[in-house]
Amino acid sequence: MDKKVSRAALFDALNAYQVPGTSASLVTLKAVKGMDVAEGRVRVSLQLLDAYQDREKVIRQNLEEILGKQDGVASVAVDIAWEKSPQVEFKNLLPTVKHAIVVGSGKGGVGKSTVAANLAVAAAKLGLKVGLLDADLYGPSMGMMFGVGGDEGPVGTPEGKIIPLEKFGIKLMSMAFLIDEDRPVIWRGPMLNKALTQFLGDVLWGDLDILFMDLPPGTGDIQISLIQNAKVGGAIVVSTPQDVAFLDAKKAIGMFGTVKVPILGVIENMSSFLCPACGAETQIFGHGGVKAAAARMELPFLGEVPIDLAIREGGDSGTPLVEAFPDSPQGKAFMDMARSLRETLGL
Ligand SMILES: Nc1ncnc2c1ncn2[C@@H]1O[C@H](COP(=O)(O)OP(=O)(O)O)[C@@H](O)[C@H]1O
Ligand SMILES: [Mg+2]
Repeated sequence: MDKKVSRAALFDALNAYQVPGTSASLVTLKAVKGMDVAEGRVRVSLQLLDAYQDREKVIRQNLEEILGKQDGVASVAVDIAWEKSPQVEFKNLLPTVKHAIVVGSGKGGVGKSTVAANLAVAAAKLGLKVGLLDADLYGPSMGMMFGVGGDEGPVGTPEGKIIPLEKFGIKLMSMAFLIDEDRPVIWRGPMLNKALTQFLGDVLWGDLDILFMDLPPGTGDIQISLIQNAKVGGAIVVSTPQDVAFLDAKKAIGMFGTVKVPILGVIENMSSFLCPACGAETQIFGHGGVKAAAARMELPFLGEVPIDLAIREGGDSGTPLVEAFPDSPQGKAFMDMARSLRETLGL
């Protein structure tokens, strides 16, 4: 009882405490406003956003326990002043876009960009006003997929806004249009984050029914910040049929769950192989695994895209397959997916 109370130890314990359900500690929230210690009685005052008020009981219990354990502490009292949260936590940088939709996957190389490009063009063929943003700064590919050549590029306005390109009936913008192709991307973390969100608000998309966003693969801060600042209304997840790939897709699905973005559909890409010579279908990676996994997770399944030479060639030559061959079986698969997406969105 007569052990000395260490104020420094109390502050350390207090500062390190994280508000439940967040990764924010009291020190990062600048929440600790004062502490009185008298004869083993500790009284702390905190100021917290009222967004955390639903956790008040747990916060009190946790702090009483943590501080109560410190040497010489006889009692703990916690005063909390609730501060009003700002009205809008995230800006809506895309006020003229009806539905911002991200196309995601847990990892690269599964055909995310290919699917995004073909779905976007397919949706435009249905008469929708469509935009496509290549936000995959580390592996931008829309320039190539849409055959954007040397002197073609977005135009800047005197006000510092950017007018997107128009190709195959869609408005197109890529971070890559603004950076030097020969220079490696050295932006990291917060800088990249800032660049992306600023960029998002500077593009003059005009009225759009759907803006597809091709995200960088993975499930980190950049994806989350983009999703929140763009008020993303839904996600499409692309996976290949191998189980390992769907494991990656599950990470993306988990991330969309965390930020409360509904999954509009899961797509199995590179589903089976159509032999261009004989027309036979070969199940290289197995087939149907993604559909089954989506069903188990009660997620809508949007469709399957076979492995097809024309899809790869279309991507490399600058004309998405659905533009070049809308009536091919593969083209029809994209048109069907766009139709069901239109229905889901009520457009
Ligand atoms: N269904 C498909 N059939 C044939 N090639 C495909 C198919 N989907 C994607 N590809 C090719 O695979 C490569 C990777 O696709 P991409 O869309 O760039 O993947 P991601 O964006 O997920 O990294 C590209 O060369 C693309 O043309
Ligand atoms: Mg890509």
